[in-house]
Amino acid sequence: MRVLVTGGAGYVGSFTVRQLLGAGHEVVVIDNLSSGRREAVGECPLEVLDILDSHGLRSVCRSFRPQAVLHFAALKSSEASLSEIDTYFRVNVTGTQNVVAAAAEADVERFIFSSSCAVYGTPQICPVDEESPIRPESPYGETKYLCERMIAAYGRATGMRYANLRYFNAAGAAVDSSLGEYTDRTTRQILPVAIRSVLGLAPAIRIFGDDYPTEDGTALRDYVHVEDLARAHVQVLHRLDRDEWSGPVNLGGGQPTSVAELLDALRKVSGHDVEAIPAARRPGDPAVSWADPGLAHRRFGWQTEYGLDDIVRTSWAWHSDVPASLG
Ligand SMILES: NC(=O)c1ccc[n+]([C@@H]2O[C@H](COP(=O)([O-])OP(=O)(O)OC[C@H]3O[C@@H](n4cnc5c(N)ncnc54)[C@H](O)[C@@H]3O)[C@@H](O)[C@H]2O)c1
Repeated sequence: MRVLVTGGAGYVGSFTVRQLLGAGHEVVVIDNLSSGRREAVGECPLEVLDILDSHGLRSVCRSFRPQAVLHFAALKSSEASLSEIDTYFRVNVTGTQNVVAAAAEADVERFIFSSSCAVYGTPQICPVDEESPIRPESPYGETKYLCERMIAAYGRATGMRYANLRYFNAAGAAVDSSLGEYTDRTTRQILPVAIRSVLGLAPAIRIFGDDYPTEDGTALRDYVHVEDLARAHVQVLHRLDRDEWSGPVNLGGGQPTSVAELLDALRKVSGHDVEAIPAARRPGDPAVSWADPGLAHRRFGWQTEYGLDDIVRTSWAWHSDVPASLG
């Protein structure tokens, strides 16, 4: 299948591109390289293009004639979206409209969108399934939900099948350290920040909230290995081809992991101490959030192959082996 991938030079996108190529698909990547890396796409054709350039998007669609579009390109920090709200709505919402409109104009039949568990905000009940109330708490989460609705509307109007994949926390790297996440001082995700701290590139890690109503007092999250996430895209793509179904799908491991457990796993894997300082809870951070990935399993046969130890081990190896990954 001819597959157009926006944001394919980024973290989740680059793993997905690699797996799509491995499955025999023909892939073209669109990325403005604002956070993505040219080397992450390897030999795959890359159009350096901004998704705000609707003319450029249409032109790529006309020449490549994609049969499916996987749309990863976006800005992704809930925290930054508070201070950069205009930019977040422009890139994430206007950019997505440009991508969906170009796809519809090119008669693309399958559209897969990178949504987020941020659409649920603070869940009332965990694990969170797709019927849970939608209550985004950041402009970022709002942009993701607006995009989901826009894609659903295009789907109804044009017959394009779509999947809005709500990722929980992507983490980990390739087992051979050939691909992984590029980080810098602005990175907020706990695992790369903790690794940076162990490697002496950042101060002691702050644990935001150690008085939550959880067993060890720290927040519970759902980490999902990036290879598992990437494989989900390939499986969903193949099924969208056959099924008459469209809708939202949670992609998480379905296992809650506390911040303290994650740091313990890093201590074990790295053989180093991980200095952690308790800090105040951050507004908008849920105490607990983990997925019910049952729909992804029932509908697409997807389940995770990697667990917490794999996530921590591959991340640690990637950041230790590839100094460029640390910015
Ligand atoms: N990483 C996670 O844990 C996570 C969780 C939930 C949802 N998501 C979503 O998954 C998607 C991919 O996330 P990621 O972690 O790979 O992020 P990333 O920043 O590594 O990748 C995003 C890619 O999009 C590109 N991009 C950004 N703005 C662009 C623009 N205007 N035009 C063209 N390209 C642009 C970047 O250069 C980058 O290559 C995003 O939509 C994100 O919101 C990620």
